[in-house]
Amino acid sequence: MILHGNIVHAPVLGELEVRTQGWLVTEGEQVAGVYDTLPPQYADQPVTDWGDALIIPAFCDLHLHAPQILNRGIGYDKELLPWLETYTFPTEARFGDCAFAERVWKAFLNHLWAVGTLRFSAFATVHKEAAWRLMELSEQSGLRGLVGKVNMDRNAPDALREDTDASLADTEELICRSREELRRTGLILTPRFVPSTTERLMEGLGRLGERYHLPVQSHLAENPSEVAWVASLHPDIPSYTEVYDRFGLLRQNQTIMAHASYLSEAEKCLLQERGVTLAHCALSNTNLSSGIMPLRHHLEQGLRCCVASDVAGGNTAAVAASVAATVQTSTLHTLRHPEHAPVSWVEAFWLATRGAGQFFGDVGAFLPGYAFDALVIRPDRLDALMERTPAERLEQFLYHGDDRNIAARYCGGTFLPMPFPLT
Ligand code: GUN
Ligand code: FE
Repeated sequence: MILHGNIVHAPVLGELEVRTQGWLVTEGEQVAGVYDTLPPQYADQPVTDWGDALIIPAFCDLHLHAPQILNRGIGYDKELLPWLETYTFPTEARFGDCAFAERVWKAFLNHLWAVGTLRFSAFATVHKEAAWRLMELSEQSGLRGLVGKVNMDRNAPDALREDTDASLADTEELICRSREELRRTGLILTPRFVPSTTERLMEGLGRLGERYHLPVQSHLAENPSEVAWVASLHPDIPSYTEVYDRFGLLRQNQTIMAHASYLSEAEKCLLQERGVTLAHCALSNTNLSSGIMPLRHHLEQGLRCCVASDVAGGNTAAVAASVAATVQTSTLHTLRHPEHAPVSWVEAFWLATRGAGQFFGDVGAFLPGYAFDALVIRPDRLDALMERTPAERLEQFLYHGDDRNIAARYCGGTFLPMPFPLT
């Protein structure tokens, strides 16, 4: 394909590359090159001309909860632990009903498509059948996804608390089945968080990770009460991070930990050593009064970070909103910690595209050989009345745009229509 338009991406943290009225050439699933003038060898090929629109990398969301799409905007009067008990667990318990799950999953995937999240790593629920259905539908959708069957065998309501051996057996069944039947969707090991998983379950999941070379996702140090609870559950292990590490759950360069707001120096060193990706969830941290992750500090220490929505701790799955919230919370953090410069919108945009895309490989920027995942962005009528640079248009989209501004989506080198239009 050859696309023409205003091409904007962030190949490096803090650097925006803009090609006004540039050309983007793809070959198969990948970007072949980005040019100011079209190289002569492509001169007689058909062109998709997006005119004044922006062509930007699609968003990757490395931390969100698919069932909680139903809970967006509900229950932010509570902090994490009572929020889970009051709002989250009752909703997740409904996913024992497969017909219900199917309807939610289709709407969920349509919604990710709409907001421009074309690669994701999502928690499903503990239910094997519902998790499998999400994997199948994800495969059909054309989006690229990692899906986790949630594991929890302690401190959960009866409807969600699993038998340890059954939890491991169900997980292994999904691993094998997804390897045989799916190509674009994979399983990610998903112990909910330390308080929900016994040592024996964590140990078993660590073994599955090793045997099948699997990625892992979970929550880490999100809220002070949660951190204190973990310390009381595991008095013999020096830190929250080391609990996961003890059971083989910080898999090298294959692990996503959401939040990571309350870390000691030793924990940061360990996370860096293991190449763990920290998913910064600014909306969730604000909604659930969890606190502000010292993002600049983490970045300066060389920790891998990305921006994620954490629906439904986050009130919207639109990653653009999380990009804006990242800048806003970082700015507030700087008022208290002037030694940490606030994160700019260009940096936050990188964290939501290339920063997150790294987890999948060569994804998240328009460099040769990278997967071609893109959104075409048009200004609304009001914004179009003012002349703006492509960078300004992107900034406005991030702060107040929505799915109505997204004119087209491409994933893995092809145009991506709405996955389930009849639902
Ligand atoms: N910690 C354990 N479970 C959850 C969850 O569902 N959402 C958030 N934000 N934190 C969690
Ligand atoms: Fe979460």
